[in-house]
Amino acid sequence: MRKKKLVVANWKMNPATLPEARVLFARATRAGSRLENVQTVICPPFPYLGVFAHRGTTRVRLGAQDVFWQNSARVTGEVSPEQLADLGVSHVIVGHSERRALGESDEIVAKKAVAVLKEGMRPILCIGEKERDEDGRYFETLKNQIKGSLAGIRRSDFRELVIAYEPLWAIGKSARDACQPRDIRETEIFMRKTLTDLYDSETAQAPAILYGGSVEGENTAAILSEGGVGGLLVGHKSLDAEEFSAMLKEANTVA
Ligand code: 13P
Repeated sequence: MRKKKLVVANWKMNPATLPEARVLFARATRAGSRLENVQTVICPPFPYLGVFAHRGTTRVRLGAQDVFWQNSARVTGEVSPEQLADLGVSHVIVGHSERRALGESDEIVAKKAVAVLKEGMRPILCIGEKERDEDGRYFETLKNQIKGSLAGIRRSDFRELVIAYEPLWAIGKSARDACQPRDIRETEIFMRKTLTDLYDSETAQAPAILYGGSVEGENTAAILSEGGVGGLLVGHKSLDAEEFSAMLKEANTVA
């Protein structure tokens, strides 16, 4: 059986109002529900999660953009894994570069991923280098992030794990600035090799690997086919209902 592509919409802090969010959610859900080869996940900002609770379908699931690593801790402003699970959230982004930029370490990311798994949800664990130097030192960065951020995740949970490769230099631009499909493919191979060295080859094949960073309608098919990844983490274009629907359709046609 052909494996479904996983396409994740990361709305970040958008849209500004609940009515707009409702329209966007409805349109993305309608588009995603028609596609049998794609698993769509929509990650709205926290204030809208309760509104969309249990609104997901088997083909379109609800995701969160972040989480705290403990349940019912005395920590003002945080959201717990069990609260997310209770709302029907199936996937949780952890360690997005924009959160790492606010001080989130590999150690914290690892704790979040473990906590998400414990509640029966799937972590979408983000890694990515700030820049690509000619000497290839960014490979070392990726390796260290993999080693540090996956610490404590049981091998038996790797099937539930999603790793998103999001190079920081490619985020928030346009399709022509995205990482090239051949470079994505090379990075995906490097990531699997790193996982093989750290664990074993079977464990290394278990997680889905996504790419994120300026994915638009124009480069969706090429990244999925030539890039060899199992899906996409989409930022700004997930806010454009028409283009996002077209991207989902495109993903549905890639074998
Ligand atoms: P863009 O698609 O806007 O580059 O964002 C990528 C991203 O950060 C998704 O998590």
